[in-house]
Amino acid sequence: MDTDRIRRDFPIYSSRRGDLVYFDNACQTFRPRKVIEASNDYYFDFPACGGRSIHRLATQVSMRIDEAREKIARFIGCPNPNEIVFTKNCTEAMNLVAKGTTHRKGDVVLTSDMEHNSNHVPWIQLTRSMGIKRRFVTTPSSGIFDVELLKDAMTKEVKFVSLVHTNNVTGTTIPAKDVVEIAHDNGALIMLDGAQAAPHMKIDMNDLDVDFYAFSMHKMLGPSGVGVLFAKEELAKNMDPLISGGGGVSLTEYDKATYLPMPERFEAGLLNYSGVIGSAAAIDYLSAIGMDSIREHEANLNYYVTKELKEIDLIHILEPVDPSRRGSIFSFNIKGLGSHDVAMILDEVDKIMIRSGMHCTHPFFISRGIDGCARTSFYIYNTMSECERFVKAVKVIVDTFSV
Ligand code: ALA
Repeated sequence: MDTDRIRRDFPIYSSRRGDLVYFDNACQTFRPRKVIEASNDYYFDFPACGGRSIHRLATQVSMRIDEAREKIARFIGCPNPNEIVFTKNCTEAMNLVAKGTTHRKGDVVLTSDMEHNSNHVPWIQLTRSMGIKRRFVTTPSSGIFDVELLKDAMTKEVKFVSLVHTNNVTGTTIPAKDVVEIAHDNGALIMLDGAQAAPHMKIDMNDLDVDFYAFSMHKMLGPSGVGVLFAKEELAKNMDPLISGGGGVSLTEYDKATYLPMPERFEAGLLNYSGVIGSAAAIDYLSAIGMDSIREHEANLNYYVTKELKEIDLIHILEPVDPSRRGSIFSFNIKGLGSHDVAMILDEVDKIMIRSGMHCTHPFFISRGIDGCARTSFYIYNTMSECERFVKAVKVIVDTFSV
């Protein structure tokens, strides 16, 4: 990976802030110039409303949104662009599915014990409002998802399975194709939270055969405020939308409304046009690099950091320690120091930015008696010399502050 060339595409590296080390990519990535320019094109050249008025600016907006939808559909191996719904983020996409699908009192929704709050809190709401029941697949201490435990949990009461594809704390990825097959064999629907998977690997809806798949563009070079939901049309075409109103209906009368077909049915209100257009540019950028190269680059960085830090007694790497199981994520604690302290020292002393705390997966930490972790996460513009700087800084923290 030619990181020198890539970094030249990111304005932040040529600004006054160019000497910072940004390792908080699992939270949000930087954006290349082409994405910023494509987003701004909307405001400069055709700042109108799509899908409603018929004048030339509005038509241009509609065409660019259609193009973006088609591009994103191709990128994730979805042959039908109508199955791509734009939301404001992955969280909204998962809420749309959780609250739009039919649940009966007593139906069991199966998640894992290491879900992000976005795949946890909506289900808590539904235990109250619909009387659904929850069941959690336990993650072994190895940190690696165990398909046998999933099979054990999969009784006939399980009507919906909703799992994180790649975990935002441990970096582990579940064997999605097997998991989808197990859910379907049991007669359950399945949704995957792809927020940490879609930015880092090739995903293929056709091959996976998953029913619903959600991710956010801001974790993959795209603008803030754009989420993507893949939803199988045959399952979602009659679902009630999460947000309803103008743009999502064909006709309303005083006492009834007829929803439009997918995807508009789920996109009521003004879309984030600039963001969606910028998202198409992000997809172009990632496609030009290739998802396999991205994966390989992140693996190399993670391998180096792990090798350098894993033998230090006072450092605890969250399982699995093997970097090949953790994609772009390196989560750790330093004995005697809180994770926020580690993050703050790295930032203050060396301008190295990571994330700390419970990373919106509170039950995972609470159940294991850990009060959080420091998380380093890599992306395409990170370099080996940044990793060397990080390793050196962490070693200094261990020598200076730990007990
Ligand atoms: N889910 C995002 C993260 O893990 C916000 O950082």
